[in-house]
Amino acid sequence: MTGTHLQVYPTVSVLSKAAADLFAQAARDAVDRRGRFLAALSGGNTPIPLFKLLAGPPYQDELPWTRMHFFWSDERCVPADHPESNYGQARGNWLARVPVLEGNLHRIKGELEAGEAVKDYRERLEEYAEGGLGWPRLDFVLLGLGSDGHTASLFPGSEVNIDPQLAVVAVRGSYADRPAERISLTPSVFNSARLVLFLVTGEEKAEALAASRQGRSDPSRWPVQRIRPRDGKVLWLIDTAAASLLSR
Ligand code: 6PG
Repeated sequence: MTGTHLQVYPTVSVLSKAAADLFAQAARDAVDRRGRFLAALSGGNTPIPLFKLLAGPPYQDELPWTRMHFFWSDERCVPADHPESNYGQARGNWLARVPVLEGNLHRIKGELEAGEAVKDYRERLEEYAEGGLGWPRLDFVLLGLGSDGHTASLFPGSEVNIDPQLAVVAVRGSYADRPAERISLTPSVFNSARLVLFLVTGEEKAEALAASRQGRSDPSRWPVQRIRPRDGKVLWLIDTAAASLLSR
């Protein structure tokens, strides 16, 4: 199944519940078909309600946790126990509360020097590589959208022509008061995924959402436009505030 679909929800809680159900369905399908589920998570505030939902019933008791692997779409260059760590955020709100296997948490080591962290993460991805790629085909990728148009840690004005064989890059990108040194998966990895789920909420995202989805194509200005899975599906889950500038 391929294509891009957009769904607007009245509130963050309804949207997060829909996202949790989609995640659960993707996990069950992947385990049924391939015996494992490979997901990549993002940071930011938007997915926190989703993480909290997935830490509780019914998901806590019903998902095939021991067959589920977690990677990260991007990470800030901070240690795992730092308040700005994307891994730390997912762990604290969710993963520490479900019976996932420690060995299946494939975090980006933000505490290492950036080049070392890239190498370490690239090697971890290679262990799960398939289909002639240097990385796995992810079953589920969770992404957000910054009000500046960035996604994962692919920022406006950053290199568009990344070597398509590269899975992981070190980048610098200022956004709000968050750490600027980052490690990110590349569009090549996102574009080999089976399902990419964007969660976008709040009126501060409305302009970036409308411009990147309905304005002219400019992947340098709008990095989110670089995400176009070849043989996968993209779902945009948006609340009414973020959708307010979209034309029908
Ligand atoms: C990060 C993220 C980043 C995030 C957006 C949206 O590490 O910061 O992965 O790409 O998804 O910045 O953040 P909010 O959800 O907080 O708006």
